[in-house]
Amino acid sequence: MSANDKRVSLEALVSLCKRRGFIYPASEIYGGINGFWDYGPLGVQLKNNIRDDWWRHMVESPPLDENGEPLQIVGLDSSIIQNPKAWVASGHVGGFNDPMVDCKACKARFRADQIDDYACPRKPSKKPGEYDQCKLTEPREFNLMFETYVGAIKDDDSRAYLRPETAQGIFLNYKNILDTTRVKIPFGVAQIGKAFRNEVTPRNFVFRSREFEQMEMEWFCHPDEALKWYAFWKAERMRWWRGLGIDESNLRFRDHEPDELAHYSDACVDVEYLYPFTAPNFGELEGLAHRGCFDLTQHQEHSGQKLEYIDQETNERYMPNVIEPAAGLTRGVLVILCEAYAEEWVPKDGSDGGPQPAAPGANPPDGYEARTVMKFAPKLAPIKVAVFPLLKNKPELVQKSRDVFNELRQHWPCFFDQTGAIGRRYRRQDEIGTPFGVTIDFESLEDNTVTLRDRDTMQQERVAIRELSARVSAGLQA
Ligand code: GAP
Repeated sequence: MSANDKRVSLEALVSLCKRRGFIYPASEIYGGINGFWDYGPLGVQLKNNIRDDWWRHMVESPPLDENGEPLQIVGLDSSIIQNPKAWVASGHVGGFNDPMVDCKACKARFRADQIDDYACPRKPSKKPGEYDQCKLTEPREFNLMFETYVGAIKDDDSRAYLRPETAQGIFLNYKNILDTTRVKIPFGVAQIGKAFRNEVTPRNFVFRSREFEQMEMEWFCHPDEALKWYAFWKAERMRWWRGLGIDESNLRFRDHEPDELAHYSDACVDVEYLYPFTAPNFGELEGLAHRGCFDLTQHQEHSGQKLEYIDQETNERYMPNVIEPAAGLTRGVLVILCEAYAEEWVPKDGSDGGPQPAAPGANPPDGYEARTVMKFAPKLAPIKVAVFPLLKNKPELVQKSRDVFNELRQHWPCFFDQTGAIGRRYRRQDEIGTPFGVTIDFESLEDNTVTLRDRDTMQQERVAIRELSARVSAGLQA
């Protein structure tokens, strides 16, 4: 089912994220701060699950090469603030700009290259420049890097930058890694971390933020093999996103036109997603760039350090080429939230029929009620199992439920809920995407079985307590 078919509304998603503790506006009690977001208890868990899956796929259990050997990829966690000369060398100080246009009449600011996507704040809303009163300035270049000062004195010599991408920390450590580990070309270095961009117009929830997280891997290879590896990583990255449970029809590739290529890039393709706010168009989720030898050559020139690779077997000397899969982690969270969100009609008494997609704007038919359910892939769900005593005023039920909960929470993040009608407790878990619910009832006291409920089908079955962990484990891997 595509995002369009499900008619995800960004407003509904933002509201659920706030209500249930996935994502909050940063500094909300002070009125917020544009372009910054805080990840709440469920949001941080979801983000960590995506992050860990990427890390596992890249570093701990990397893909196999054409001979069935695992690729060599090592991890890194470099500093957010680096010597500012690094950002001169990388081209960010001189060229990491967006063109910006201001309206002197209404004081609004727009990105000049996307002006058709904006609305003038006057009502009825038109495109910027379409009112007689509009006074648009000529486009001006605006550098996106956040500046700060290192040490007690604030002057040009102490100016430094918050990194606008994690990639450069990898290039700065390329020589360290070659000198201290046993990697040989081809190899990769992977890093996950915060990046900061003073975006002209942050918008669409966390899609374009001023503080966000990236998952980047620089793949160093022989120049003759760069195109082969570009094709390899293109296929691999799409496979990974699909493996998170994203519907194929909501993902696509888009090759960059030559005039779109970043200053460092020989070729670039984006993995794009059908966001509710871009539909029917797609928007960027990850960039895959063939960076040639731009970065290492620049850093060699600016640092005076030799960064050429010497092949120990052939004695060949060359500057490696780099293929870079650069994914947004926080943008990935948004995609997973959009993809998981569903509104359904379900039988009120939990009987047959099962869930069916809700018709937009209509009321559920007799005997049915609406539910919102986050259909996360089980491996990404923030909470894996919820445990419910059928009644909270029966101590023996509560005790048995606690025992089951204590067993399950040794393996997975679990939630214990004894408040409210059982139907309401199921709905609360559906809304945060918990794949399994376990209910302990009077039968449990007699025969040591429980009810295991599946979030998506809402089907319930009796399972022996001693088999519960194995059943849940199998279900989470499905
Ligand atoms: N090292 C290359 C690089 O940084 P990029 O296309 O500018 O390339 C990579 O960024 C990814 O980082 C994007 O595909 C997107 O997912 C994420 N990203 C970039 N800017 C962002 C922003 N302002 N807010 C959220 N995510 C962003």
